[in-house]
Amino acid sequence: MKDISELREIFPITKHKIYLNHAAHSPLPRPVKDAMEKQIEHYSQHGDFSEFDDGKANFAKLVNAKIDEIALVENTSMGLNTVANMIEYPQGANVVTTDLEYPSVVYPWKRKKLGVNIRFVKNREGKILLDDIEKAVDEKTVAVAISHVEYANGFRFDLKAVSEIAHAHGAYLIVDAIQSVGALSVDVKRDNIDFLTAAVYKWMLGPPGIGYLYVRKELIEKFEPPFIGWASVKPEIFETINPWEIRNLNLSETATRFEMGTPSRFSAVGASVALRILLNAGIPNIEKRILTLTDHLIDKLKEKKLKLQTPLEPKHRSGIVNFLIDRPKEKVEKLKKKGIVVSARSHGIRVSPHFYNTEEEIDKFVEAVTE
Ligand SMILES: Cc1ncc(COP(=O)(O)O)c(C=O)c1O
Repeated sequence: MKDISELREIFPITKHKIYLNHAAHSPLPRPVKDAMEKQIEHYSQHGDFSEFDDGKANFAKLVNAKIDEIALVENTSMGLNTVANMIEYPQGANVVTTDLEYPSVVYPWKRKKLGVNIRFVKNREGKILLDDIEKAVDEKTVAVAISHVEYANGFRFDLKAVSEIAHAHGAYLIVDAIQSVGALSVDVKRDNIDFLTAAVYKWMLGPPGIGYLYVRKELIEKFEPPFIGWASVKPEIFETINPWEIRNLNLSETATRFEMGTPSRFSAVGASVALRILLNAGIPNIEKRILTLTDHLIDKLKEKKLKLQTPLEPKHRSGIVNFLIDRPKEKVEKLKKKGIVVSARSHGIRVSPHFYNTEEEIDKFVEAVTE
């Protein structure tokens, strides 16, 4: 990884703000912005794309998947809805989730049409225990749907352990990874994940409008996509001069069957460049750096006697730290006026630094929030 001051040069925001809010969105690095602007200019001048890299290969590398297992989606919610609506739910089926989830991990299964029961595993002081998941899953469980990292308190799951529980009962593991990919190591093969989805606008340093859906190879052809368009069929069909075959539906054998139509190409180009920045820095380095910064933050918050809502065992830690404080919304607004950006969540303040932040920035934040 480059030296931090060199790295900060590609993040123009570092010149005028202390930005510790990557669990919300990421300010675009300069190369991402430049690549997107170049594409927009080209499109405006020529009506097409100069070279179109959709970033799938880079995302596949980030999560240790094969490119054929990756579909482009608009955002994480779209990825989750695609999966929720293609799985079948026999009479009495249930989906197991937790009471810490972001709405998009739960709402898709609330559709009456699906007729599936949702079981919420209750957190214990911000943690979800594997034993509690084990108790909630039974032979009627069709899927376990969770976030790799919980949005409010940053609790990180051991996905391998959860996939073992799910698979032992014949259930799928569906993962919302928007709060982890780009910040932490994610390995769909090591952890035996069935479906994983994430938009790029948070820890992956990309723009809104594009994300990815991973579907385990063995499952791709098992499912008919819930939404179908020209992009869902075998590429050789749309790459010929022949009129479109419209009487028969020949779905793609790869994860592109879960795509429908024209994606946000400007966003995809930006995503690809953003993912290249992460791959060049190396996820193990990024993860180490983020955990060093959050360790530092936790120490400082403890010194100030602030109560942490984030579980502190190393295996459950992530890029998110949340602590309780009076009137968090007002505090966040006040900090914003001073150029310090964090979020108010769950009666506390959520702080989420990325690898280019510094200990000095963390110190300035702690001083400002406690003064
Ligand atoms: C866990 C989690 N899932 C999903 C989202 C957002 O989903 P989308 O990519 O559909 O905007 C967020 C945003 O805060 C989140 O924290």
